[in-house]
Amino acid sequence: MDVRRRSVLTAAGAAGAVGAAGVLGSAGTASAAALGASHGHRDPNSLRELAEKVGLRIGTAIIPQDINTPAWAAVAASQFSVVTPGNEMKWQVVEPTQGVFDWSGADNLVAFAKANDQLIRGHTFCWHNQLPNFLTTGVANGSINQTQLLDLLEAHIFTEAGRYRGKIWQWDVCNEFLTDSNPSGVNPNDFWIKNAGPDVIERAFRWAHQADPHALLFYNDYNIGGEDGSNAKFQAAFNLAQGLLEKGVPIHGIGIQGHLDTQFGWSPQRLSDDIGKYASLGLKVAITEADARTFVNNPTDQVPTNGLENFAQPFEMDEMLKASLAHPELISFTVWGFTDADSWVPGFFTGEGFATIYDVNLNPKQAYLSMQSTLKLAALGAPHRVRTRTPHP
Ligand code: XIL
Repeated sequence: MDVRRRSVLTAAGAAGAVGAAGVLGSAGTASAAALGASHGHRDPNSLRELAEKVGLRIGTAIIPQDINTPAWAAVAASQFSVVTPGNEMKWQVVEPTQGVFDWSGADNLVAFAKANDQLIRGHTFCWHNQLPNFLTTGVANGSINQTQLLDLLEAHIFTEAGRYRGKIWQWDVCNEFLTDSNPSGVNPNDFWIKNAGPDVIERAFRWAHQADPHALLFYNDYNIGGEDGSNAKFQAAFNLAQGLLEKGVPIHGIGIQGHLDTQFGWSPQRLSDDIGKYASLGLKVAITEADARTFVNNPTDQVPTNGLENFAQPFEMDEMLKASLAHPELISFTVWGFTDADSWVPGFFTGEGFATIYDVNLNPKQAYLSMQSTLKLAALGAPHRVRTRTPHP
């Protein structure tokens, strides 16, 4: 079967296996309040219910606190139909010491998703960050050579993809391999490219496909939908995907991270154009980590220091959603954390925050209300999700 042409319906069918599969052994560790929070009580005005009407999945990244804090879990369950582990499926977390595995966080997320009728975006097999020390140290001191590194990656992918086989809708197989320069390209100094060789990307996709043939396999990166105001990385991502398809590599989608910052210019039209171009390759597209950060008073309260940002931040989130709705090949729109209290932004960008759709006290912000209105309008046909021609490579 040419998996590149698999329809959204088939993908959803594959994900149906998620529901059919048994609850994982450690499900009991997820809070009872979190499990089943949304069953039978669907709010028709929730993001997930509104988006379902137009064939879109709305997602969020999930950290353990989202599952363990009942009020947060209720929002995560009721508003979103797909979840991504913020960290819990990264190599550093699942195998901190060689041969010693900790699947507890990942298993909790899978159980949470099952209980709340959500699909899962697996994130991520092959990335230069959040690798276990044994791997980076071994490569640095020469005790892990190129062949051994490839063997370790193969084993890692088979172990993790195999464990969750049939339970993952989309896997981010490779993450952030492109340079930030203009023009951009695959970074020769990337940990994986440098130490495992330039064909590591295609190897990773082939292994992932063997390990879980029904998962949709994504290349995921930032600034590949013009998020930084330039469009430098778009062409590099397009070329990478096209090259992989020409070689028959099983890649099914492009993940545009969608980390915006209100201090930079940004063009929603360009994002829409970029989505359309990726789709023209016959690929699915996903917004995988949407947020829009801005400067704030402090990391605890996260009040924007410039009143205009109360308008810019929701505008940018909503425009990302609108650009997404214009393309039926865009199958999921995921926010990277749903409350400013669970966002990665204050910890990573000094002085910035206010990046999500709920405030630090879990009140829906204007960004939430704007996205909700947009989804309501979309259900009425504005903007139209017109099926575009997708040439088969
Ligand atoms: C971030 C997490 O949100 C943080 O908790 C962690 O400390 C670092 O990574 N691009 C990605 C994500 O692909 O995995 C990153 O997540 C954010 C940037």
